Amino acid sequence: MITLKSPKEVGLLRESNRIVAEILTSLREHIRPGVTTEELDRLAEELARKKGAIPAFKGYNGYPASLCVSVNEQIVHGIPGPRRLKEGDIVSLDMGVRYNGYYGDAAITVPVGAVSNKAKKLLDVTKGALEKAIEAAVPGNRLSDISYSIQSYVEGEGFSVVREFVGHGIGKKLHEDPQIPNYGPPHRGPFLKVGMVLALEPMVNAGTWEARLLSDGWTAVTADGSLSAHFEDTIAITDEGPLILSRL
Ligand code: MF3
Ligand code: CO
Repeated sequence: MITLKSPKEVGLLRESNRIVAEILTSLREHIRPGVTTEELDRLAEELARKKGAIPAFKGYNGYPASLCVSVNEQIVHGIPGPRRLKEGDIVSLDMGVRYNGYYGDAAITVPVGAVSNKAKKLLDVTKGALEKAIEAAVPGNRLSDISYSIQSYVEGEGFSVVREFVGHGIGKKLHEDPQIPNYGPPHRGPFLKVGMVLALEPMVNAGTWEARLLSDGWTAVTADGSLSAHFEDTIAITDEGPLILSRL
């Protein structure tokens, strides 16, 4: 069941998602060679708590940290630790909070220093895929129009879309209906309606779409070791089109 949010609830979701945007903006400024992924996690948790928000991922299904940090061939759900970022890496930062009972969720992938042209293109295409997804999130379209817009754009650019993980509804719970695959045919599924709030999150691989899970039980990596990127925004569907809640 997809719950529709009132304008007041969209306002509350804007507040929690703005906090996530602020945290990601600060984290981005700390990305440099030598920083460890657990330093980023600690900073993310501190910033959330300073703003009166609760990190949403810590303890979720047993996830051990506040931030997901996924480097290079890691797709999503990388667990922070002593690893130091190095020049040429790309790193995905995925953050969620709860604030006044409503969740915020967003992710960015950023280059560490100078990166390869292939990595630059992967970041551009994945960000572009998220923009296409947002453009498709309008009343009158159907859910899979979002999925199709992502897949057709990404594959047209020569990259592949991860199948195992999906976008999702969000509200008083981190994960609500509907699930939003990042691939599929157009014109299927429920019609998009004003008041739906969705976390759209394309994950794009430079090589094969196939993924594997590391033995830590969380970190998803590309099956062929190719680079992967991830961007996520939480948006509300309104009469005036998509309203992005998770940007400054
Ligand atoms: N943004 C991701 C999601 O929406 C992050 C979840 S990490 C978890 O699923 F630890 F909370 F599972
Ligand atoms: Co999400």
